[in-house]
Amino acid sequence: MSIRLFQKKANLPQSFGFLKTDLHSHILPGIDDGAKDVEESLELVRGLHALGYDRLIATPHILMELHPNSAATVLPALEQLRSAVREAGLDVRIDAAAEYMMDDGFEPVLEAGNLLTLPGNRVLVEMGFINPPPRLHDYLFRLQTKGYKPLLAHPERYLFLKDRFGEYQRLREIGCEFQLNLLSLHGYYGKPVRDTAQKLLKHNLIDFLGTDLHHARHLDNLQNLLTDSAAMSLLQRHTFKNTQL
Ligand SMILES: [Fe+2]
Repeated sequence: MSIRLFQKKANLPQSFGFLKTDLHSHILPGIDDGAKDVEESLELVRGLHALGYDRLIATPHILMELHPNSAATVLPALEQLRSAVREAGLDVRIDAAAEYMMDDGFEPVLEAGNLLTLPGNRVLVEMGFINPPPRLHDYLFRLQTKGYKPLLAHPERYLFLKDRFGEYQRLREIGCEFQLNLLSLHGYYGKPVRDTAQKLLKHNLIDFLGTDLHHARHLDNLQNLLTDSAAMSLLQRHTFKNTQL
């Protein structure tokens, strides 16, 4: 028995290299609540690369009241980070999209079009943690009529959905993909979020895994997650679309 347990543990991934690409992070310098400057950005890139990623897609917040970003702020920050990564000699590909908050401020952004997209014309969207946006289904429908594919960030963190599990199924049926935060499985956001994350995985409702990395503490917790054999073996039982990006 002890030998079998040992073998099981030894087969667990030792890095996140099996995912290749991270598609959710706040590593661009100075434009949201993530990296404050290019030095911090570089530290985060180094950390993610050391954890096994070879491509990082930065997704700064677009949240009109707090982080009124657009291509005009995201693309120069991307270029700044890319040249710093080149100068540092790091072999990591950096791209950028965005994480759009589906509050009232999303209406004009959606109407204007030209959204910053992940591969496959996917748009990473989030909502408030307390209440669902009144126009959630309207936004998801209109994104798709404009040719975008909505990808909901960290579905496990919206506690108003926790006791309405069927709503997750409905959201997927209307064409929404789901991206789980890795740290949710490690209890970083609390037990209810971890429970929901496990349940979503067990029901095969998760398409992508993301770090949602904002700062170095997240790096430390991701490192700890690699030693969490319960969480890592749950991940190992599923396949994710990160490698298709
Ligand atoms: Fe995020």
